[in-house]
Amino acid sequence: MNAVQTATPYFFQTAGSIAAGAGSLSQLLPRIGALGSFKHAVIITQPSIQALGVIDSLSGELAKAGINSRSYTEVKPEPTVGNIREVFAAVSAEPVDLLIGIGGGSVLDATKLFSVLLTNPVDVQSLIGTDLVANPGIPTVLIPTTSGTGSEVTPNAIVTLPEEELKVGIISRHMLPKLVILDPGLTVSLPKPITAATGMDAFTHALESYISNKANPISDMFALESIRLIAGSLVQAYHEGQNLAAREQLLLGSMYGGMALTAAGTAAVHALAYPLGGKFNISHGVANSMLLPHVMKFNMDCIAGRLEQVAAAMGLASTGSAGAPEAVIERIFQWTKEMNIPQNLRAFGVTEQDVDSLAVAASKVTRLLNNNPKVMSIEDMQAVYRKLLP
Ligand SMILES: NC(=O)c1ccc[n+]([C@@H]2O[C@H](COP(=O)([O-])OP(=O)(O)OC[C@H]3O[C@@H](n4cnc5c(N)ncnc54)[C@H](O)[C@@H]3O)[C@@H](O)[C@H]2O)c1
Ligand SMILES: [Fe+2]
Repeated sequence: MNAVQTATPYFFQTAGSIAAGAGSLSQLLPRIGALGSFKHAVIITQPSIQALGVIDSLSGELAKAGINSRSYTEVKPEPTVGNIREVFAAVSAEPVDLLIGIGGGSVLDATKLFSVLLTNPVDVQSLIGTDLVANPGIPTVLIPTTSGTGSEVTPNAIVTLPEEELKVGIISRHMLPKLVILDPGLTVSLPKPITAATGMDAFTHALESYISNKANPISDMFALESIRLIAGSLVQAYHEGQNLAAREQLLLGSMYGGMALTAAGTAAVHALAYPLGGKFNISHGVANSMLLPHVMKFNMDCIAGRLEQVAAAMGLASTGSAGAPEAVIERIFQWTKEMNIPQNLRAFGVTEQDVDSLAVAASKVTRLLNNNPKVMSIEDMQAVYRKLLP
């Protein structure tokens, strides 16, 4: 038997309860009933979800159970602190004792922030950082519609600071939800480019957690299973959006990726992605997809052993010619090509002149860079960005 041995203690905490599987949205009311007695539910969502008709039927169900509800659709994709402040002002103007977030990571992160802003009378900006939230938030139900960020099970919320052209994190266990509903039926409407980008984000969470300096037995378990599930479903979900089995596998893989990153943290891919989102509005998943194979190539001499296990989880162990670690990187490049994910930053208006400031901004994301298995200098970061400016 291989003994488990780690250099430092590790810690894991996640959502209070999880209902999963096709049709699990129907579990909302009975499960809410088990959480307490609520009168005023607020639903945070976006127009793309409202268009599916799901919010109207949710409100109807809540009303039947004697719970008033109102919904807000103004959280923007990848919200700025200003957007969070504006929507929070509207949310908090009337009574609320339960928050239901139904959407992608942007909606889920906003819901988590509203929950703690309701119980902590401070400006959102003062919460940026780790463990700066004093009081638990009001109860939340998080229902992801992308596969995805895994935000439904993480203590993190990401906001954009436009003046600093950077994305930053608010991390607090007080933002973990009471209930998560993982219903793959809610993800079949995802357009192809969003399936691709969000699925690659989920894969990045798993892979970065697996090679993180903070990787531990708990994160490893979720990371490898996430990698296996995503590798077996992402491209199929992309081509056959209505394939519920592939959608379910991907959604579970995404949640496990969130659990892995909660236990071990993401690393340099996410650190280098934040300035691309903050300055050039490149979506989180696209930025990660572009950076992932290049950062892994940079890390290679420190992670080759770990990539053997990753290759096995991806079903690549016996690919023959290239070694297993190289095969992992090759497969990531193949996925981005097959799913038409951009590979050139010029398409987003980035030029050589921007490389220095991007690298300086990324170097400030020490929370994540400290997790990277190989130390990255500013010059190393510049070199990675230049690979994306061929
Ligand atoms: N909290 C965390 O742990 C964590 C982890 C990674 C990323 N994030 C953050 O999450 C945000 C990105 O979230 P995302 O990648 O899920 O994208 P998103 O929430 O911004 O959604 C992308 C687009 O897809 C639409 N959409 C969502 N679900 C849909 C559906 N089922 N059908 C049709 N359209 C749908 C949305 O309305 C939006 O226009 C970023 O701000 C990122 O930094 C958070
Ligand atoms: Fe991410």
